[in-house]
Amino acid sequence: MPEDQDPKAEVETAQTAFEREFERFARVTSGDGGNLTSLKEAEAELRSLADLRVRHTGKKSALAAAKKLIGRVPGDQRASFGQLVQKTEAKITGSIDAAELALKTFIETARIARESIDVTIPGRRPQPGHLHPITLMRQRIEDIFVSLGYAVEDDREIETDFYNFDALNIPEGHPARDPQDTFYTTEGFALRSQTSTVQIHAMQRRGAPVRMIAPGRVFRRDTPDPTHNPMFYQVEGLCVDRGITMAHLKGTLAEFVHRLFGPETKTRFRPSYFPFTEPSAEVDYSCFNCGGDGCRICKWSGWIELGGSGMVHPNVLRAANVDPEEFTGFAFGLGIDRTCARIYELDDIRLLFENDVRFLEQFR
Ligand code: FA5
Repeated sequence: MPEDQDPKAEVETAQTAFEREFERFARVTSGDGGNLTSLKEAEAELRSLADLRVRHTGKKSALAAAKKLIGRVPGDQRASFGQLVQKTEAKITGSIDAAELALKTFIETARIARESIDVTIPGRRPQPGHLHPITLMRQRIEDIFVSLGYAVEDDREIETDFYNFDALNIPEGHPARDPQDTFYTTEGFALRSQTSTVQIHAMQRRGAPVRMIAPGRVFRRDTPDPTHNPMFYQVEGLCVDRGITMAHLKGTLAEFVHRLFGPETKTRFRPSYFPFTEPSAEVDYSCFNCGGDGCRICKWSGWIELGGSGMVHPNVLRAANVDPEEFTGFAFGLGIDRTCARIYELDDIRLLFENDVRFLEQFR
């Protein structure tokens, strides 16, 4: 041991350094947690205290260095120096232990208080979710067609040009591509602009005869307005069998509107054009509100548009490997959003996708 080294002074310095740092923890041993204000604060203090323990009693502490001197002090002073070191160590660890216990007690009590349940607080009313009006409408339509013997098909929303246009008798450059223009990806795919694409998939998959409906989302480059959205829902219907005629189409859609709007509802077929049906017709139904006299809902015409329809074009049957000499069929495509808007008396179909909970809550 160097001549000028005073082992007692080293122990005293270690103790003073400890006391200086420990001062702020002394408050927590006062019984009520001192002026600790929160669980978070107490947890942070507990972590600092653990660091302090390492610094003042760990292997690299001044106290550990003092312990190493015990064997090196002159023999006659060794016992008293050893006792001094022991006493100091006991004092330091005792103080730390007491503060640790106080902090842990405070933390435990605060945690129990946080987790306890006050059974007198008024309950929070549960807010169960509910179906979107479009889904409610879709389910009503599905129920009717399922009861008429139709299968429900679910198909892809991203399509190739072949299914969205070519197979539906709309070759490249055909003017009918324009009003059904959609959103394209760079890999030659496009978002389908009508559910008629499912006609082809269903016939390829199931062959003929086939009777199915396909509800789903479609996309068009339409500017939003009260009756248009760039994304909306359609239900496609397809019935292909031997001897199917326009009379079956009219009978089926008449039955559908009877079940949806009431048995007094009339249908009206207006000549129209779709490349994938021949002949083609727009279908209207008499207004469910005024019965055809004219009112706000039917815009004073007495009729409301249901969608497009017609006899499946032979080219479409061929594109789906169905022999048009043996089979005929009808198809129709109804807009769900507009039908939904009519039924719930909405002035604007854009409301359906604004995700305003105050609006949607009304359809429980
Ligand atoms: C078609 O989409 C044809 N695929 C329907 C069809 C199917 C005809 C099978 C023949 C055989 P159209 O473009 O008219 O047709 O659309 C059908 C319905 O979709 C419309 O009656 C309307 O209710 C709805 N619709 C069309 N565009 C929009 C839009 N931008 N926003 C909301 N609904 C729309």
